[in-house]
Amino acid sequence: MKKFSIVIAGGGSTYTPEIILMLLDNLDRLPLRSIKLYDNDEERQNHVAKACEILIKEKDPTIQYVATTDPEVAYTDVDFVLAHIRVGKLEMRSLDEKIPLKYGVVGQETCGPGGMAYGLRSIPGVLENIEYMEKYSPNAWMLNYSNPASIVAEACRRFKPNSRVINICDMPIGMEHTIARILGFKNRKEMCIRYYGLNHFGWWTSIKDKDGKEYIQDLIAHQLKYGNCLADDDASHYTDSSWFDTAKKVKDIIAIDPTMCPNSYFQYYLFGDDMVAHTDPNYTRADQVVDTREKRVFGECARIEKVGTAKDTTLQIGIHAEFIVDLATALAFNTHERMLLIVPNNGAISNFEKDAMVEIPCIVGKDGYEPLTVGEIPHFQKGLMEQQVNCEKLVVDAYEQHSYLKMLQALTLNKCVPNANVARKILDDFIEANKAYWPELK
Ligand code: NAD
Ligand code: LMR
Repeated sequence: MKKFSIVIAGGGSTYTPEIILMLLDNLDRLPLRSIKLYDNDEERQNHVAKACEILIKEKDPTIQYVATTDPEVAYTDVDFVLAHIRVGKLEMRSLDEKIPLKYGVVGQETCGPGGMAYGLRSIPGVLENIEYMEKYSPNAWMLNYSNPASIVAEACRRFKPNSRVINICDMPIGMEHTIARILGFKNRKEMCIRYYGLNHFGWWTSIKDKDGKEYIQDLIAHQLKYGNCLADDDASHYTDSSWFDTAKKVKDIIAIDPTMCPNSYFQYYLFGDDMVAHTDPNYTRADQVVDTREKRVFGECARIEKVGTAKDTTLQIGIHAEFIVDLATALAFNTHERMLLIVPNNGAISNFEKDAMVEIPCIVGKDGYEPLTVGEIPHFQKGLMEQQVNCEKLVVDAYEQHSYLKMLQALTLNKCVPNANVARKILDDFIEANKAYWPELK
């Protein structure tokens, strides 16, 4: 069987070691000859680089490994680019969240105002990495899960329409693990789902078993009572306690439209006031990630490096990351697997903008993806999605035209922002904070 070469862009991410463990656990499906880490911050990548080398050597010493900050070394002779960069790193995520909170507005790093700021930073970083791929390995595929995924996907559609980039997200998969537990499936792959929306902004409309039996009404009834968790779940079933709170909050979200099952991120857009009331303006999600995931992963990587072995490591395979192997396998071996991807609508949702980037099921094979049709969607979902998609398009307009006004419109239109006065205050603070990253807006 052919062996593949992979580069992980954003090598210094806290997700890198668990993605490597996932790759190493799936070598029978996706054989590898080379794994490379690439980051533009050597110091950050060094937190994980040596431990990743040890993980790989102990599993399969025939796999070549290099960690580099040189794009040519990273991108030459690769089949797949797994891209999860965070331009500005967690320090900037922290400001994305805290600046809006100064004005009583939830920041939210993907679809809220924080995500708009992060989008303007991410676009050039992602485009730069696509350009490296096209220069050094033009036949490679980029599997891109850098956030904010919708804005990044819109920028890819606009500026790199012919590039071999597929935009994906693990969030629905995370929720589907719990949905499978709620409905009594052994794992989420026993379910055939229908879902539509934008990234971090969608709904499940059908969940069937292999025999075609529909379970969506059972799930709706359960979520109306408990949210997206089991009656006797506690925080230990989730990566941290805030994800447990998020799962419970689905109960309030679904009460607004009990005909389909919402992504839990709607808590930010529909219940921004509750989120603000429960958030310490000096200690947001970015701080939690630094104090939990980053400490745990970097600490364990340092320990592995010190003892020189990963035999008794506490690092765990990223089960959320399994979709990355599924997607790479589908592209490499033409499996026609059905996967949720972020793709141009092109009529799949018949009453929605053609050039919107929507998250819908697609069939994936060696030539890329073929989206499935969704049909017409109801007014409530359509209204929310139209507001959000236009807000995200305005961010990309602002990037393209270096336009202050477009960015002001984006923030004014954002569901989390109450009015144009607040939008302007947030924007002016964002400009100050993002001087090193944003184009100069005029
Ligand atoms: P992180 O800050 O821990 O790591 C990101 C790395 O990207 C850093 O080491 C940084 O130096 C590097 N980087 C920044 N700009 C770069 C560039 N231009 N080229 C190469 N490397 C660059 O961030 P994280 O919390 O691990 O998240 C990584 C990314 O993955 C984020 O975009 C996050 O939102 C995203 N994410 C996506 C999913 C998903 O499934 N869609 C899930 C979780 C996180
Ligand atoms: C991340 O950085 O992991 C986010 O995408 C989700 C979270 O943990 O807040």
